[in-house]
Amino acid sequence: MSYEYEPIVDKLLVWFDENRRILPWREDPRPYYVWVSEIMLQQTRVEAVKGYFDRFTKELPTIEALAEASEEKILKLWEGLGYYNRVRNLQKAAQVVVSEYNGVLPDSYEELIKLPGIGSYTAGAVASIAYQKRVPAVDGNVLRIVKRLAASFDDITKQKVVKEVEREMKEIMPERAGDFNQALMDLGATICIPNGRPLCEKCPIAEHCEGRKQDVMMLLPVKPSKKPRKIEEKTILVMEYESKYACNRRPKKGLLAGLWELPNVEGRLTVEELNDALKELGITEYEVELLGKAKHIFSHIEWHMLGYHILIKQKTDNIRPNVSDAGELSRSLEEYSWMSSTKLKEDIALPTAFEYYKCWER
Ligand code: ADE
Repeated sequence: MSYEYEPIVDKLLVWFDENRRILPWREDPRPYYVWVSEIMLQQTRVEAVKGYFDRFTKELPTIEALAEASEEKILKLWEGLGYYNRVRNLQKAAQVVVSEYNGVLPDSYEELIKLPGIGSYTAGAVASIAYQKRVPAVDGNVLRIVKRLAASFDDITKQKVVKEVEREMKEIMPERAGDFNQALMDLGATICIPNGRPLCEKCPIAEHCEGRKQDVMMLLPVKPSKKPRKIEEKTILVMEYESKYACNRRPKKGLLAGLWELPNVEGRLTVEELNDALKELGITEYEVELLGKAKHIFSHIEWHMLGYHILIKQKTDNIRPNVSDAGELSRSLEEYSWMSSTKLKEDIALPTAFEYYKCWER
């Protein structure tokens, strides 16, 4: 027997009217703002997004401004949010909107989903919140609520299950579609929470919740666990020379593609191994300071890092120009980009993975 969702609609809307969170993109839900906020909110919490959203929309107030901005600028505005392809796709989509839609973000789910970086959830969220279209916006929060309500043990990592929930939500979607979708988002964030016990006593639709009645809500939703993350050990070298720091660009493909990084090598080097590696680089006069360990968790990989600060004392013409075939670090020091602390702070986006080693911010 299938679950009847219809009775939750009005109750959720009433609850939303009284409990809606005040968020910048809600107070001024122009399509560009809704779109930017939805991209930022993928993988990032509302509280963390607020500051980024204000800065981004102040610096790039329109779709045209975003389309024309330099890559360096958009990456800097995104620094710390992670998943940098999100902002690259956001800009690509802005360029399409300028060239093909006269700078106006399309209002239909079908047109929105064609744009780079916009999937079914985001297309639904933008179409409903910015344009009041009666389409669902089903993300992890909505799946959790829906599966708890129905006491359903369906595997929510299956596309078939997501599509079915989208159909079910579309069927009950009221006129106030944007508010209904956001009511589900807020309920998922504040009451029907993912970790820990849900606050059922405060839930406006608890009386309709089979999961609660059967006391299985803590077991739901079913989401078979992913493969464990791959662990990579690394040594980070913060090389300082005349108050500038060595940086290089990561490869164009793969993790943190094309972003700046601090020089690093595989494995955790001991001081002796570090000394050998520096010798290969032609660095002979320096002071070493141990910076300690740090961990950074990506979606599929964990970096377990050890860092050293290397203050280079010799003159550049003492530094060997190039060493070949001797592992990752054996490039000439001139091949690195040497950045001042001001440039690093103001212009360059260095991924959060390196946060612990930003000696110039101390
Ligand atoms: N999470 C994703 N989109 C959201 C929105 N518009 N409001 C609150 N939480 C969200």
